[in-house]
Amino acid sequence: MNSGPDNISRRGFLRAGGAAAALLTVRPLAAQEDGVRRYAISAGAATHRLGQEGAPATDLWLYDGVSPGPMIRARRGETLEVVFTNNLDVPTTMHWHGIRNLNEMDGVPDLTQAAVEPAESFTYRFPLRDAGTFWYHAHSKGWEQLARGLYGALIVEEDDAPDSANDITLVVDDWRLTEAYALHEESFGSLMDWSHQGRLGNWLTVNGATEPVIDAAAGTARLRMINAANARTLAFRLDGGRPLRVIALDGAPCAPFEIDVIRLAPAQRADLLVELDGEMMTIEEVSTGEPITAAQLKTGAQLKSGAQPKSGGRALSPHVPAAQSWYSFPDQAGARIIDIHMQGGAMGNLDSAIFEGESLPLRELAQNHSKLWAFNGIVGGYDNWLGDVALGEVVVLRVWNDTRWEHGMHLHGHHFWVRSQEFGDEPRDVLRDTYLMAPGERAELVFVADNPGAWLFHCHMMEHHAAGMGAVISIG
Ligand code: C2O
Ligand code: CU
Repeated sequence: MNSGPDNISRRGFLRAGGAAAALLTVRPLAAQEDGVRRYAISAGAATHRLGQEGAPATDLWLYDGVSPGPMIRARRGETLEVVFTNNLDVPTTMHWHGIRNLNEMDGVPDLTQAAVEPAESFTYRFPLRDAGTFWYHAHSKGWEQLARGLYGALIVEEDDAPDSANDITLVVDDWRLTEAYALHEESFGSLMDWSHQGRLGNWLTVNGATEPVIDAAAGTARLRMINAANARTLAFRLDGGRPLRVIALDGAPCAPFEIDVIRLAPAQRADLLVELDGEMMTIEEVSTGEPITAAQLKTGAQLKSGAQPKSGGRALSPHVPAAQSWYSFPDQAGARIIDIHMQGGAMGNLDSAIFEGESLPLRELAQNHSKLWAFNGIVGGYDNWLGDVALGEVVVLRVWNDTRWEHGMHLHGHHFWVRSQEFGDEPRDVLRDTYLMAPGERAELVFVADNPGAWLFHCHMMEHHAAGMGAVISIG
C-alpha cells in the first residue's frame, strides 16, 4: 500500500510539513444586542478534504459545510442563541458539551428535547455562565454522527480576555477512512469496536486538516486542545519535550502545573500555555508510541490583519488563575452517595444484565440488541435512573470501572471534582466534566447538584455509550 489513510499507525506514510495554513472557520460576530450572540447553524451533507493537498475529498456530515464546524466565540455572561436547522435526512440534536446549561437546551433527544427532524429547526438559547474551552456536537446516534464530522468548538472568553492574541484552538479527530479517503461505513455499528475500545480511526486531523501549519506570534501561546474523536484517547507533546503548562481542564481553570505529555480522552479539553521561541514548533501525537506530527505552529510570519490568531503584535498575557478560595472540593458531610458499578465489554465479568426490564445473558444482549455494558447490572438507557437528587445537594458518584477498558466518564450540566489519577504518579484535585478512568479504577466524582433537570452520565467513548454505558441523574 503506497497511499491511503494510515497516518496513525504507520509512520512511514507521513510527509514532512503540510503546505497550507489550516485555520478554523471563525463564525463572524453576529449582531449583538442585549448581550445576546445570535447565530444560525445548519447540519448537512458536505464534502471536505481531510488528507494532504491532492487527496480526494470525503463525504461527511458537517455543520455549515466545514470541518470542524464553525468556531463559536462569545463572552462569559452573554446569552448564546443558535437557530439550528437540520438539513440531514436523519434526526439530530446539538449538545453543548461542558456548558452548565438549561436542561431543555442540553440537546439530548428523548430526554431533554425531541430530536430535530429533517428540514426542521430548533432554537438553542442559553446563558454562558462560565468562561472556558467547550465544544458542541450532535447527540443523536453520536457514534455515527460524530464520526461523520458533526462537532465544533465553542470558546467562551473571560471577562478580561486579551484580544485573542495567540489564542489557538486545536480540534483533533481521528477518522476511519478507506484507501480512497472515504469514511469506512461498513464498520459503523461493529460489535468488535463496541465491545473493545470503540471506533478508532486511522487518520489524524487537526482543525480538519492533515499536519496543518498554523501561524502564531512569537511568545506565549494559549493552546486550547479539544479531543473530538469517537473513542481514541489522544496524547500530545511538543517537539524537544518542551513543557506544557496546564491552566485549565475541560474549560475549568486548574492550579497550573507542568507536564511533558498531555493525554486527552474523547471530549476532554486542556488549555495549555507554551512558549513559542523557535521558528516552528511541532505538536506531536504520541498515543500509539509512534510519534506523528499533529500540527505545527509557525512563528515569525506576518499575520494578516483579520487573520486568526489576531496577534496585534502582542503576545498573550497568560491567564493563570490565582489560587482561588472556591477551588476545592465541596464539603461532603451528609453528601448523597450514588454507587456506579461499571461492567461489561470484551474480557469482562458481566454475565447478564437487565435490558428493558428483562434479565438477559450478555451473548443475547450483544447479538440481538448491540448492548454490551451496564451500570449496576442495568443496561443504560434513559429509563436507567441513578437517583433523584434534591436541588443543592452535594453528590458523590462513587464509580468503579470494573472492566478491562478505559472509559471517559462525562456528566452533563455540571462539572465535578475528582482526585485525578490522570497525570502520572501524583493525584491532582481537578474540576472536570469528563474523567478518564483506568481499568479497575475507583473514583469519586463530587459535585453540587445546583442545576435542575434530567442529566445524562455516560461514557464519552461513543460506542460504549451506545452499547449501554449511560444513565440519568434527576435533580430537583
Ligand atoms: Cu459530549 Cu453526552 O456528551
Ligand atoms: Cu467507555
